Amino acid sequence: YEPLRDAAERSGRYFGFAYAPHLAQQDANYRAIAEREFSMVTAENTMKWESVQPSEGQFNWSGADAVVDFAQANNQEVYGHTLVWHSQLPGWASNISDPTRLSTVMKDHINAVAGRYKGDIAYWDVVNEAFEDNGTRRQSVFQRVLGDGYIEEAFREARSADPNAKLCINDYSTDAINSKSTAIYNLVRDFKARGVPIDCVGLQSHLIVGQVPSTYQQNIQRFVDLGVEVRITELDIRMNTPASQQNIAQQAQDYKKVFEACWAVDGCNGVTIWGISDQYSWIPDVFSGEGAALPWNSDYSVKPALAELAQVMGAT
Ligand code: G3I
Repeated sequence: YEPLRDAAERSGRYFGFAYAPHLAQQDANYRAIAEREFSMVTAENTMKWESVQPSEGQFNWSGADAVVDFAQANNQEVYGHTLVWHSQLPGWASNISDPTRLSTVMKDHINAVAGRYKGDIAYWDVVNEAFEDNGTRRQSVFQRVLGDGYIEEAFREARSADPNAKLCINDYSTDAINSKSTAIYNLVRDFKARGVPIDCVGLQSHLIVGQVPSTYQQNIQRFVDLGVEVRITELDIRMNTPASQQNIAQQAQDYKKVFEACWAVDGCNGVTIWGISDQYSWIPDVFSGEGAALPWNSDYSVKPALAELAQVMGAT
């Protein structure tokens, strides 16, 4: 095929991946695919709070800079992940109990990170995983100490730190129309009504083989109808391992469905897969006995999924 990024671009969309700079150093195959196929780069870990501000006021930009440098060298855009999240948040921040202090710390972090990369970032995940599956707010330190208003505060701060970055709210298990995606829908609708800056909704789409939700496209469409972009931000489709032929075939159909749903909606502007090859995927570490979730096998042979998604993109 032609580079998949070129196919995606013809329909005004991008094809992205989660990037880990150390892998490009140690693995030439990884690097070659990373450079050739993708037009959008998300930092898998190196822009997270614990990476960039491990101690208060002490910033370490090396990993985040490496992502921006790689993307720019390859004429790719950068998706910033993530400014405010309860996970990979260092202890010094997660233990703050004074609201005034936490508000200052949160805004300083947003300003420092989004400010450093001002002009270099196409999209920011401003707030990640703020909701529980039942649609209530996750009781993160930000929620407990600052209350419901912290999301709005974070988005306003991000807008002033980098006025040209599109600002997204991102979450998992929001791919179907369900309580959690409806909670985000209501938040976006409220932000739009009150003029709080928000530009996009990220559907992580960490899916299970055979379980692409039947309401996926309809869900994407309802967000677009609110006036925000939708992005598929962390796609992978896992199964029990070792993978059966049947599941590999089903997975190819599942990837196809995801890309078709996005490509069918004006305003679904791209898909990012959460890694390249199964070898480095986060899944076996978290879901024991599962994996095989990405379009490339550990040895960089391609799964049937790759042909399906390439076809939806119109790759020649
Ligand atoms: O860097 C250390 C290394 O020094 C140490 O030796 C090693 C031992 O475990 O750990 C390394 O840190 C790991 C880090 O990834 C970098 O590889 C952490 O243990 C590990 O927990 C961490 O996992 C990441 C996870 O987020 C953390 O929540 C995954 O790589 C990353 O793919 C995953 O990504 C998240 C998104 O940010 C948000 N949505 C869900 C998605 C999947 O969980």
